[in-house]
Amino acid sequence: MATVVVNQEVAEGVFKLTAQGRFSGKMGQFYMLRAGERYPLLSRPISIFNLTEDQIEFLVMVAGEGTARLSGLMPGDTLTLDGPFGNGFPQLQGKTAFVGGGIGIAPFYYALRSVPEADVYLGYSRQAYMVDEFRAASRGKVTVDVGGSILDKVDFSAYDTVIACGPHAMLHAVQRKQAQTGGQTQVYVSLENRMACGIGACLVCSVKCKDGRKKACTDGPVFLAEEVVFA
Ligand SMILES: Cc1cc2nc3c(=O)[nH]c(=O)nc-3n(C[C@H](O)[C@H](O)[C@H](O)COP(=O)(O)OP(=O)(O)OC[C@H]3O[C@@H](n4cnc5c(N)ncnc54)[C@H](O)[C@@H]3O)c2cc1C
Ligand code: FES
Repeated sequence: MATVVVNQEVAEGVFKLTAQGRFSGKMGQFYMLRAGERYPLLSRPISIFNLTEDQIEFLVMVAGEGTARLSGLMPGDTLTLDGPFGNGFPQLQGKTAFVGGGIGIAPFYYALRSVPEADVYLGYSRQAYMVDEFRAASRGKVTVDVGGSILDKVDFSAYDTVIACGPHAMLHAVQRKQAQTGGQTQVYVSLENRMACGIGACLVCSVKCKDGRKKACTDGPVFLAEEVVFA
C-alpha cells in the first residue's frame, strides 16, 4: 500500500498519479493498482511511468470503473498496489524506437532512463499530453502525431529494435508493417490485455501465439510482434 501524493489531470480523462514509497521495477513492467483497500476485483494493470527513490508514478486513462476510481484518488488517500509484474522490455541493443499510441506511451518515459538515446513516437487521437516531459527526458528524436497514424511516421528499417505499445488495432498494424518492411529489425509489442490476477493464475489475459496460448501477465506483456496471432 502507498499514500497518494498528487493526482493531477494532465489531459481530459488522463491522470498522473504519484504515490509515496520505495518501489522497484524494470522498464516495461507493471503494477496491479486499485483505489483504497476494498474492491479487490478492481485491481487493474498499469505500467510504471516513473520511479524515483521514494515515489512511484503512473499515467492513468479513465476507461471504466477501476480506472475511474484511480482517477478520483486525492492526496492522502490509500493506493493499493502489487508488483512489479511482467517480463518488461528485452535488453535493447542498437538503434531503438519506442512507439506509443494513446495511453500506450506510458511505459516509454521510464524506459528513457535506461535508453535515453532512443527515438520516441507519441500518437494521440485527440489531445497530446506529457510531450514536454518526454522531450526533456530524451536525447533522441521525439515525434508527435495527433489525429493521424503515428505508425506512418516510423521507418522500421531505420532501427535495430522497435517496441510498440497501444491499442490492439495499432499493434496489429505494427505486425503488418513489420511483415511489409521485412529486414533485420526486431519488433516487439507490449499488449494491453485485460487482466484479473496479474500473476498467472486466472487465464483472463490469455494471448494466442503461433506456438500456443500464453499469458500476457507472466509471459508478457512484451512479445515479439511476429509471435502474436491478432484476431
Ligand atoms: C500490462 C498493461 C499495462 C497497462 N498500462 C496502463 C497504463 O499505464 N495506464 C492506463 O491508463 N492503462 C493501462 N493499461 C490498461 C488498463 O489496465 C485498462 O484500461 C484497465 O484495466 C481498464 O479497467 P477499468 O475497470 O477502468 O475498465 P473496465 O470497466 O474493465 O472496462 C472499460 C471498457 O474498456 C474495455 N476494456 C477494458 N480493458 C480492456 C483491454 N485491455 N482491452 C480492450 N478493451 C478493454 C471494456 O470492455 C469496457 O468496454 C494497461 C494494461 C496492461 C495489460
Ligand atoms: S491476469 Fe490472471 S493469468 Fe494473467
